[in-house]
Amino acid sequence: MVFPERFSNLPDYAFPRLRKLLDVHQPGDEPILMTIGEPRHGFPEWVGDVIADSLEGFGRYPPNDGTPALQSAIARWIARRYGVSVAADRQILPLNGTREGLFNACLALCPETKGGKQPVVAMPNPFYQVYAVAALAVGAEPVYVPATDETGNLPDFAGLPTDVLDRMAVAYICSPANPQGAVADRAYWTDLLVLAEKHDFRIFADECYSEIYRDTPPVGALQVAGDTGADPERVVIFHSLSKRSNMPGLRSGFAAGGEESIARLKQLRNYAGAPLPLPLQAVAERAWSDEAHVEVNRALYQEKYAIADEVLEGVPGYRGPAAGFFLWLPVDDAEAATLRLWRETGVRVLPGHYLAREVEGITPGADRIRVAMVAEKEEMRRGLIRLRKTLYD
Ligand SMILES: Cc1ncc(COP(=O)(O)O)c(C=O)c1O
Repeated sequence: MVFPERFSNLPDYAFPRLRKLLDVHQPGDEPILMTIGEPRHGFPEWVGDVIADSLEGFGRYPPNDGTPALQSAIARWIARRYGVSVAADRQILPLNGTREGLFNACLALCPETKGGKQPVVAMPNPFYQVYAVAALAVGAEPVYVPATDETGNLPDFAGLPTDVLDRMAVAYICSPANPQGAVADRAYWTDLLVLAEKHDFRIFADECYSEIYRDTPPVGALQVAGDTGADPERVVIFHSLSKRSNMPGLRSGFAAGGEESIARLKQLRNYAGAPLPLPLQAVAERAWSDEAHVEVNRALYQEKYAIADEVLEGVPGYRGPAAGFFLWLPVDDAEAATLRLWRETGVRVLPGHYLAREVEGITPGADRIRVAMVAEKEEMRRGLIRLRKTLYD
């Protein structure tokens, strides 16, 4: 029996790899889980009522492109948040969470060749792993671009060799960034759009952490594209209710971008997609129309940034995140620190390089641990105090 080769060289996924590292040891104390980025704040109390009111929708096939009401709610949100006007029916595609869209966008939009050569799909390193699998799925060459302290924790795509840039078909970029917590500012987006124009590639902007920030709302890719008059087909943005509304289990997000790009995504989805059930689309419609619950959620994270700043004050190299809910803490050896924390204190974190690929002998993140600030506040404080005592004092 022949099996495909395209995914056979993937490294172990981060969490099974972590289980292999840690689960042969007993935790040193009551476990505090700070590994997975699964939001644990509450979701809005009206969710159950909305589902109950639209139960009959489970008896129908949902429309592939999302209901017009959901498309409009998303378009209104984009207008409020970014000051950009998009056509609800032609520039928006509701998704089952961003991960699905980030994967399918490559299938729908990455060309088979570029300039007669194998296309490149570039991404930050470390990164959210679906980007690499999407690149491999379409036969593109994944290029991992360091996003470390030296580059402001965002990838410096402009620093790639010209022949790579000329083969580049897609650049994935995550802002606010998981795991680094960095935010691309207006200048970064502007430069990237200019580079994309010059070398004719698309930007897939993963902005699923956009609503979790310290003080200033992160500027968005579509917003800067609009302001600078860039070709709207250059950019597709991806947003989610997983972090904004604490509903990772709803599996709801959207892609928005140029009409042709969205039409192609819709076309693929007509054949191969699984649209969100109608009652869940009704929940999503309400969630994009309501900011009150998002503000409450953000305020909780802002308290957590303050706790992290307080507990970790003076730790050499500590930099509180500008946005998102991960701490990206410097250590000498990520695996040794992770193991020690677990065995001595029960605090469970993720070695940074489990989210990265080795390039020319270097794996970014081997000197970092990723700490998710998702636990309840006081539990998180206890975890960070144990972490500080064990690793830094
Ligand atoms: C950077 C990043 N992108 C995308 C996702 C996918 O989120 P979802 O599919 O729940 O919208 C995650 C989830 O953790 C993430 O961290």
